[in-house]
Amino acid sequence: MGGIERIAVIGAGTMGSGIAQVCAVAGKQVTLIDMGPAQLESARVRVQDSLRRVVKKGGLTQADAEAALTRIHSAPRLDAAADSDLVIEAIFEKESIKAETWIQLESCCKPQTLFASNTSSISITKLASVTKRPERFIGMHFFNPVPVMKLVEVIRGNKTSPETTAAIVALSKELGKTPVEVNDYPGFVSNRVLMPLINEAAFAVFEGVATAEAIDEVFKLGMAHPMGPLTLADFIGLDVCLDILNVLFEGFGDPKYRPCPLLKQMVAAGKLGRKAGEGFYKYEKA
Ligand code: CAA
Repeated sequence: MGGIERIAVIGAGTMGSGIAQVCAVAGKQVTLIDMGPAQLESARVRVQDSLRRVVKKGGLTQADAEAALTRIHSAPRLDAAADSDLVIEAIFEKESIKAETWIQLESCCKPQTLFASNTSSISITKLASVTKRPERFIGMHFFNPVPVMKLVEVIRGNKTSPETTAAIVALSKELGKTPVEVNDYPGFVSNRVLMPLINEAAFAVFEGVATAEAIDEVFKLGMAHPMGPLTLADFIGLDVCLDILNVLFEGFGDPKYRPCPLLKQMVAAGKLGRKAGEGFYKYEKA
């Protein structure tokens, strides 16, 4: 399997733009694809801001940052991924929408192109099954903020080949990340362990055990977490947390994953966390 030089990133949200940035900084040619022109424009601004922060703290020269930016090409159509060695999909976290996107990508990409999903909990084996290349399909789970967080959780689906895994592990290292290989079961490792912590913290608020602030202080000061679980839940998005808990609950059929009623109610009320201006905390701006 040759090296990965041309990468298409599908979805220009927070994760997609972060992934495009780290790939471009590593010297890859990146096509960032999104149907929405406004999303593509805000992705460019986000990448510029992030590169500025990296330059400011000496992680990159101004010239290298500018060169990286020129390696990111925006496109509004999926067939712009046709010549890529790898497609990384980072779109909305809904299985049917992801599956539909992969069916379209299957029809426009060359057969040897590797397919990777940045899903946080949807089964890689299921997504791979809608394509004709399950052995070249893998999970490549990045963490927000992508330019800062060192981990890539590499998820092997039931039919993912060792060659595909090796290529993605090698690429993750080229991107300056540390890949950790896991198998495809609900929530993988990251969210199988993180979401019950967040859910339990929500139950502690729900039952009046302590305030959100108190719970977060316990984890920041007692366990040296950079953010307490409820600040982190707001950062991730409470809707995303609820979706992942539902995947765990349905996937294992175990009541220990039942989402906290408070979390469900907050999502129903539109209190989705930082992006909505309110979650467990209030924020100045969405
Ligand atoms: N681009 C580039 N650099 C950035 C950045 C970005 N988008 N965001 C932050 N940084 C840099 C800053 O420049 C700063 O650098 P220095 O320390 O060298 O000055 C550093 O990161 C820290 O940033 P700040 O000082 O602004 O703020 P902070 O110290 O509070 O750190 C944080 C912010 C890195 C987000 C930190 O709070 C943290 O690590 N939080 C936990 C994040 C986390 O757990 N993410 C995973 C979420 S789960 C997920 O993504 C996947 C899922 O499936 C749900």
